[in-house]
Amino acid sequence: MNWWETDFVTVRGNRLQVAGQDAAALAERYGTPLYVYGKDRILELYARLDDAFSRHSTLPARICYAMKANPHRGILRLLRRRGAWIDAVSPNEVATALKAGFPPERILFTGTSVSRADLRAVFAVDGLTVNIDAAEQLDLMNEVKREFPSKSIRVSVRWNPGIGRGFNARVITAGRRSSDGTPIKFGVEAKKVISVFTRARKLGFHPVGLHQHLGSGWVREDFGMVQAAVDRMVRKAREIEKAGFRLEFLDFGGGFGPRYLRSRGVFPVEDYIAYISGAVAKAGLSVEALALEPGKYLVGDAGVLLLGVEYVKESYGNIFACVDGGTFNTVPRPAIYLSAHHEIINAGRVEGQSRARITVAGNLCETGDVFGRERSMPLPESGSILAVLCAGAYCRSMASNFNLRDIPREVLI
Ligand code: LLP
Repeated sequence: MNWWETDFVTVRGNRLQVAGQDAAALAERYGTPLYVYGKDRILELYARLDDAFSRHSTLPARICYAMKANPHRGILRLLRRRGAWIDAVSPNEVATALKAGFPPERILFTGTSVSRADLRAVFAVDGLTVNIDAAEQLDLMNEVKREFPSKSIRVSVRWNPGIGRGFNARVITAGRRSSDGTPIKFGVEAKKVISVFTRARKLGFHPVGLHQHLGSGWVREDFGMVQAAVDRMVRKAREIEKAGFRLEFLDFGGGFGPRYLRSRGVFPVEDYIAYISGAVAKAGLSVEALALEPGKYLVGDAGVLLLGVEYVKESYGNIFACVDGGTFNTVPRPAIYLSAHHEIINAGRVEGQSRARITVAGNLCETGDVFGRERSMPLPESGSILAVLCAGAYCRSMASNFNLRDIPREVLI
């Protein structure tokens, strides 16, 4: 079995199967480029989190899907039926979640650089919880709240615990600066948290939770740092309770990734849930629920992008599979984060003797428009189908129409 195989992507007769169907046949039926998502895989991953909470925690769990990863309507409905909550980051995400049937009580809005218009839109949704990203945001909230005089608005505080973790400097979301020196814009700094709770209450808001999100794309090696951040969160929650606030929930954010690379160990998500549950229980906190906000974990490896090869080109010794999609329009992650890796499989011939080092080149006018560089695979030919794995998260949702190319169609199977 190949390291990337799951129930969703398998191999039969040296051909790639996606959600139990021949990948090339799917490409033929729907056309390429094409995103294919698998319901069963998403549900299986959701169940793993749910089961881990049932095993390790006496508190109810809120698995808040970070819908920015993939706001496909069918995926939202699937997760809603399964009992998921929602992490939404814009009024349009909130509206999309409501349309997919999520009750407002199950939506946490976490904005950054939040505008008065954003606040107006989310305050209008009865029962939703608004996460506060800055002490200064309270001024705007107070101003907009006057338009909703009789309303009790639930708020929580997104704090920045001072340490963060992510696969790339651009997605580390806690700490003072990211690993490339970028000042980190998210959250309320530790020493201001209590005063934000106090002022929020004084202004008539109803503070109910504490939230952190450390970054995205953790692997096994990140576990130690992530545990340290859990400890910080629990200590901060105790301080908040001692200051006279009751916390309904602690939300530990998202960040744990699917396996993108063979060489990286998988983040031990069950141990993480056990650790959180243990730490909260040991601290004797009176919280009523624990929350996580998985995005890429739930949908990342439940999606593939199928590409058709137009022709294979040789130039100065480089061999290119020239495909019918561009990275920016389909799987922009490698173009945005140079370290983002997506495994690429020749769907019609997964293994083979005549392997070559293939650069999979897109159809955009950018040198960086390559899905993968010098990947060893059986030599494709015109008409071959290539599958870009782990294309379920932050691919369609970050795709653009650059070069006025279309964004591919999606099917959920
Ligand atoms: N909660 C909050 C508040 C977030 O900002 C995010 C992601 C998540 C949860 C979910 O994180 P996840 O479980 O998916 O790691 N575009 C990048 C990822 C950026 C994630 C930003 N925030 C990528 O393609 O890897």
